[in-house]
Amino acid sequence: MRVLLLGAPGSGKGTQGERIANRYRIAHVSSGELLRAHSRAGTEVGRAVRPYLARGDLVPDELVLSMIRAELATPAAANGYVLDGFPRTLPQARAAEEIDNALDAVLFLDLPPAELIARLDKRADRAGRVDDQERSTVQHRLRVYEERTRPLLDHYRQRGLLIRIDAAGSIDEVAERIATVLDRRSTLPAD
Ligand code: AP5
Repeated sequence: MRVLLLGAPGSGKGTQGERIANRYRIAHVSSGELLRAHSRAGTEVGRAVRPYLARGDLVPDELVLSMIRAELATPAAANGYVLDGFPRTLPQARAAEEIDNALDAVLFLDLPPAELIARLDKRADRAGRVDDQERSTVQHRLRVYEERTRPLLDHYRQRGLLIRIDAAGSIDEVAERIATVLDRRSTLPAD
């Protein structure tokens, strides 16, 4: 199974990505987690991306692409994957199709802005994500999402892959909605 998760910051991509990976025994590939791991480890990539992460700006496409390409080529991803946070721009989406054009579904986690902000505020209080701390950075991330990533919804809708998931409610409720959709897809006969 190959699934993409699209959604604004705070919509639950990371949380549900982990659930999907466990349920279907596939790899969970989170571009944000990979970038933060580089940043923590102080690698060359990590040092280059740190200012982008702190500002809530997108990291340049080429950098993300080479990282994702390497990740999808590992044996862990051979059985399928759930991609969380990538692609995020139209050039990334086109490049993703060149890497692997066999997607089963693109799930759009839909949540109103006030709830997105409430979830990120809550995490800012208990976890140390630098991009959650300032309200202005959170708002900037939401704007970047609207401008650069939301256009991907049309891109995948036109390809017949987009499925809207109501991302409100508890983590279990959202996971259940996703499982209902993906269970049905995974038992459909191939074209
Ligand atoms: P990334 O790590 O992808 O962050 P994001 O898109 O800002 O999303 P978040 O991780 O904040 O939210 P999420 O949707 O994963 O929700 P989560 O499950 O965590 O990207 C970070 C940065 O990396 C970017 O700004 C950019 O700089 C760079 N980057 C990453 N990918 C890139 C790319 N492809 N190209 C260029 N740059 C890139 O949940 C949020 C909170 O809500 C958590 O505390 C969680 O516990 C809680 N929660 C989740 N679900 C529920 C629920 N149902 N009810 C209550 N609480 C919930």
